[in-house]
Amino acid sequence: MASIELQSVSKTYNQGQYSVRDVNLSIPDGEFVIFLGPSGCGKSTTLRMIAGLESISEGTLLIDGKNMNNVAPRDRNIAVVFQSYALYPHMTVAENMAFGLKMRGTDKAIIEKKIAESAALLGLDKLLNRKPAMLSGGQRQRVALGRAIVREPQAFLLDEPLSNLDAQLRAEMRRELIKLHQRLGKTMIYVTHDQVEAMTMADRICIMRDGHLIQTGAPLEVYENPANTFVAKFLSSPPINLLACRVIKGENGLWLQLEGGPALRIAETAQADYAHLAGQATVLGIRPEDFHAQQQQPDWQPVTLDVTSVESLGAENIVSGTLDTLPIIVRLDQHTRPRVGDTMTVFMDPTPLHLFDPVSGDVVPRRSRRSPNA
Ligand SMILES: Nc1ncnc2c1ncn2[C@@H]1O[C@H](COP(=O)(O)OP(=O)(O)OP(=O)(O)O)[C@@H](O)[C@H]1O
Ligand SMILES: [Mg+2]
Repeated sequence: MASIELQSVSKTYNQGQYSVRDVNLSIPDGEFVIFLGPSGCGKSTTLRMIAGLESISEGTLLIDGKNMNNVAPRDRNIAVVFQSYALYPHMTVAENMAFGLKMRGTDKAIIEKKIAESAALLGLDKLLNRKPAMLSGGQRQRVALGRAIVREPQAFLLDEPLSNLDAQLRAEMRRELIKLHQRLGKTMIYVTHDQVEAMTMADRICIMRDGHLIQTGAPLEVYENPANTFVAKFLSSPPINLLACRVIKGENGLWLQLEGGPALRIAETAQADYAHLAGQATVLGIRPEDFHAQQQQPDWQPVTLDVTSVESLGAENIVSGTLDTLPIIVRLDQHTRPRVGDTMTVFMDPTPLHLFDPVSGDVVPRRSRRSPNA
């Protein structure tokens, strides 16, 4: 059992600058949580405070309800796996995995049993006598995980454990880690700046920026309800289009008059939600995948795009262009592959639009809905 709770946790180093500031987070036992954010936002520092490798400057860390602020790392019963997993080069896989248990004086028969179990779990059974130099990156990564698993910790903290691997191996290990979490049922906190890892692996993601926890929620919940432009941009690749505009009253209700671009009608279903914005400046957020080559719904709105670049990824085409004078990115299916210089019509689905405050960047709540928790 390991529920983990951070209460107003902050970290300052010598100069008094905050690396992590006032983080509040409650992780129930068994949850798979991902800390996501750009380089330097405080992900590793937060993880290291939970592990006890870094002192907590302000606030309280509770594990299973007990204050852990001054408990030594070895007494927290938490395993940490880092990006550089530092296996002992002169030891075999089995010896690497056994090392921690041996140091604790665990019985030899028990060590062997645990190694056999976790090697089977991780598909390492045929590699136990190899030295790390004779393993691939992914296999080494699994040994590092195995070394953590044999300790039977109450929680796992993983700091960018897959960032040394190639794309294919990463995808494979992502699936392995999801299965591993399901089988072990242990609390896992996983740090990454890769939004694909966050979207596919986490029960819940925690988005950090400049030491602050900006938004937490299930991946799709956050994707569909970003609290501000930072979260909206961070969670999509290619990034969401952010277009300055004004809400105006026009034919059949409210429209968004884009600055330097056309006017787009707000979806019928959202008209009432945004009635309070009439006349105001706002920022429209619309994702590249919400543009389509064909009109499939009557309310999808045609816009004319002058194509300036095309990236063909096989299954899809990422097309950059201008909408009047506005730069915009759209994502089209593999069958729609324009050429640079083409002028084409694409259809915008107005339903998933997001409106943000032009000054703060915070989402403008829809009147009829609950605002996302910040
Ligand atoms: N020992 C230290 N002394 C002073 N400042 C530090 C120390 N360790 C980290 N920092 C600062 O704290 C901030 C957060 O660092 P942290 O390592 O937690 O970032 P991160 O989100 O893990 O980034 P990355 O994705 O690059 O690993 C950074 O501004 C960093 O420079
Ligand atoms: Mg880090």
